Amino acid sequence: PAGTPHLRPALHYTARDTWLNDPNGLVFHRGMYHLYYQNNPYGNVWGNMSWGHAMSTDLVHWTEQPVAIACDDSEDIYSGSIVVDHANSSGFGSAENPPLVAIYTSAFKPGTPHEGTQAQSLAYSNDAGMTWTKFAGNPVLTRGSANFRDPKVFSYPGPDGLCWVMAAVEAGEQKVVFYRSANLRDWELASEFGPANAAGGEWECPDLFPLPVDGDPDRTKWVLVVNINPGAVAGGSGGQYFVGDFDGFTFTPDPSSLLDSPVYGTSGAGAEAGRLRECRWLDWGRDYYAAVSFSNVPDGRRLMIGWLSNWDYANSLPTFPWRSGMSLVREVSLETVDGRPALVQAPVLPPLESVQRLDGRELHGVLPLPEILPGEAQVIDAEILPGAAGRCGFRFWEDSDGGAAILAYDPAAGVLTLDRTDAGETAFHPAFASVESAPVLLEDGVLTLRIVVDHCSVEVFAQGGKVVLTDLIFARVGNKGSSVFAEGGAAILRKLAVA
Ligand code: FRU
Repeated sequence: PAGTPHLRPALHYTARDTWLNDPNGLVFHRGMYHLYYQNNPYGNVWGNMSWGHAMSTDLVHWTEQPVAIACDDSEDIYSGSIVVDHANSSGFGSAENPPLVAIYTSAFKPGTPHEGTQAQSLAYSNDAGMTWTKFAGNPVLTRGSANFRDPKVFSYPGPDGLCWVMAAVEAGEQKVVFYRSANLRDWELASEFGPANAAGGEWECPDLFPLPVDGDPDRTKWVLVVNINPGAVAGGSGGQYFVGDFDGFTFTPDPSSLLDSPVYGTSGAGAEAGRLRECRWLDWGRDYYAAVSFSNVPDGRRLMIGWLSNWDYANSLPTFPWRSGMSLVREVSLETVDGRPALVQAPVLPPLESVQRLDGRELHGVLPLPEILPGEAQVIDAEILPGAAGRCGFRFWEDSDGGAAILAYDPAAGVLTLDRTDAGETAFHPAFASVESAPVLLEDGVLTLRIVVDHCSVEVFAQGGKVVLTDLIFARVGNKGSSVFAEGGAAILRKLAVA
């Protein structure tokens, strides 16, 4: 196949010439952010699962590194996490030089002693994450299960000092299972959670972390992230979350976070569609999956990153020689929204240069925006008062036949939609063309949007990040125009800044 350099994103990580899926082992250590990820070192479709590796100092510009943990004849290396073992509880390093410890899922191959099962294993690094050694005593935690995976480990203060807590999944039972350990080697079951809310697919890649509510350090709540495939709100894979309490053993969701019974529907259609929309979604688009957070980040910041794809069509994406990338890093916080704590997300971006202001005007019709340049992304900040307009929004990656990705707000319905059915290339997979929608309420009559348009993707943060919608878009060579529009009446562009 021909290369697709025009589809290489400017602000999103992609591997140079291989496949990637879930982010793994996200950790900050000695001034460096590490992004490990599910990687096929030998191809650009899923397989030969190993941990690829990239590093960054600013969370935006990543540099690919050699494969960190490679599959071998006995196991594939599935998703997991990394902790800095400050006290050397594992004994893999020293107190002076604390080891990094990776907790990953061994997917054992046929003909091996643990054949057909998934279990948790360790690897450690004493050179700041560059090279890794598998622990000779692997696996360290097995349940004899074929679907026990994706361990996310963090430290929790206990009566005798810190202890380690693992959240992992029994994927096919829609359960998060919690384990505890003093040394990362010996684990004891603490509790289970689920099924609950969206349960129409496998539960994968969980995460659990505390955050202050409205910035008040005396009001901490815990956020349990559960990725699900299929059965997410836009169809296929996506991430949901629960808000509640955690005592080191058990996660107890707030009643306001829980539906009366799980939703077993598998897509946005059918009788259960309405209930699926009542679940709490990290993203209302189709392409934000396996999202988990970094560990060891200073200043209490909670940073997440997700895979910019969907298992419905991931292996068919029309890029070459790489396939699929990561989302932007998102800083998340908890804010009271409609009387309950909700996750609010803000993209981490580089300093914005050459900002063009097009604001302070009434719009009825179409206003062209600056073109997106090859190799660059565009960040749009908008505050729009839809006023009398029946519909208003943006068109991205316009082509000469009138095709484009259409982001539209319908004030009467209170719904934001992103329509990619006529945006660039869609025919590579029958499940790809789609229209996503999210409930968005105006605040004092204002719609606030931060939109990041990059080659391959559109990420929309609405109302200060209370609602997020992320979709892949594969523009054709030469599609570069965008515009803002208001139909059926005038809208006021109070702010419109394009960088
Ligand atoms: C999620 C997932 C994980 C698994 C990994 C395998 O996308 O299915 O559950 O560990 O991908 O690549």
